[in-house]
Amino acid sequence: MRVCVIGTGYVGLVTGACLAHIGHHVICIDNNADKVALMQSGQSPIFEPGLAEIMQAAMQAGNLEFTTDLGAGVAHGEILFIAVGTPALPTGESDTRYVEAVARGIGSHLNGGYKVIVNKSTVPIGSGDWVKRIVLDGVAERQQTIAGFDVVSNPEFLREGSAVFDTFNPDRIVLGSNSTKAIAMMRKLYAPIIARRFAEDPFLLPVPVVETDISSAEMIKYAANAFLATKISFINEVANICDRVGADVTQVAQGIGLDSRIGKKFLQAGIGWGGSCFPKDVSALIHTAVDYGYDAQLLRKAVAVNERQKLIALEKLQQVLKILKGKTIGLLGLTFKPDTDDMRDAPALILIEQLNRLGAKVKAYDPIIAQTGMAHGLSDVKVESDAVQLADGCDALVLITEWQSFRKLDYAKLGEKMISKIIIDGRNFLDPEVLTASGFQYIGIGRPTHKDITSTPSVGAELVATY
Ligand code: UDX
Repeated sequence: MRVCVIGTGYVGLVTGACLAHIGHHVICIDNNADKVALMQSGQSPIFEPGLAEIMQAAMQAGNLEFTTDLGAGVAHGEILFIAVGTPALPTGESDTRYVEAVARGIGSHLNGGYKVIVNKSTVPIGSGDWVKRIVLDGVAERQQTIAGFDVVSNPEFLREGSAVFDTFNPDRIVLGSNSTKAIAMMRKLYAPIIARRFAEDPFLLPVPVVETDISSAEMIKYAANAFLATKISFINEVANICDRVGADVTQVAQGIGLDSRIGKKFLQAGIGWGGSCFPKDVSALIHTAVDYGYDAQLLRKAVAVNERQKLIALEKLQQVLKILKGKTIGLLGLTFKPDTDDMRDAPALILIEQLNRLGAKVKAYDPIIAQTGMAHGLSDVKVESDAVQLADGCDALVLITEWQSFRKLDYAKLGEKMISKIIIDGRNFLDPEVLTASGFQYIGIGRPTHKDITSTPSVGAELVATY
């Protein structure tokens, strides 16, 4: 099929490249000429495993093109994806001006046969109808007759760091529209993915397709992200209680996660959730509720718990080092999660700000930032090029991002460079035994310290023995 994707951010570029990979002819549009030139040379503007490879293969097969020419893209596509950003405004509401500009642009170029306009961006509930009106206005201004179009809401659930995998292995595809013709075209577009022809495990049942009205599809996206964010805030709250009562949240998560009603994913306690989606989508949903006179109390609390959690490492540093003024803190990782170079709403940012406020010196090492040299917005932190340099002169290390390579570091060697061998594991990612054996005081989130674990008498074992 002929596809046009407008906006080559995370969602747009991955969607365009993956649709081209499965045989569609895709034109991706972006108004940033430098970015378009970069993509035309086969390079990905974002770090995302596997993306550059599928882009290059699809370009060689003649299935993927990049241009700044919206008119050309609109003329080409039977299916037009709107995949531009909807960043949060300072108020927390969603900024829809880019979606509006694209809808206007589509309206001013629309001609030819029937088209499906797909809202892939996470847009406030009700945007489907709004987009339709803007497109119609653009068409009316030109006094054109067109073959008609329908709007579909097709929210995206891909995760950064595994975006390509997620696109080929979705848990479900959501199609919201009141047009059976548009839904049928979308099913045809996704047919190879629905049939799992490009999936890791092609023997699974077909991907479920959830057909809804437009508003429900828009709500599904917000509700999914709000639920996952709340689930993490929940386990973080449990972790904080675990810290106080001496329980281990990793064991608690395992114990509750095996209940299929709860599920084991997204129960990793840590220093809080960040990224380009959860913070903005949860706050946009709270604002939508307010617009309709409803106070979404649970969601507000999920955000509040997260704000507090971003400072949990600071609290632990103060407990162990007391005065932070003049001390040097080394951060292992900066990005909001591994396998991405994204720093948007990363919990590290607020921690750095507060450590600086308290007079500590902050250094950091992140493998991707060391590789790409990108350290924008990180003026208050000295970015080191490896972990040994990071450890040099530190009073404590804090693991911020669970990069796999951090498990393989020579902690004994790092410890030798440090003033005091303290590590706060902000993701409960490292093995406390390895760290303790390397001479570190290991402090996790919601986990008893290693000393506690080894010194706790095994009451259960004694009882069994006595019995
Ligand atoms: C998320 C959604 O998962 C995805 O479906 C949606 O399309 C976009 O938003 P993403 O932001 O890429 O994806 O990252 P995700 O893996 O969901 O992690 C979000 C944040 O939650 C990260 O900061 C991560 O560290 C944190 N997290 C995640 C936890 O703290 N604990 C967990 O158990 C899981």
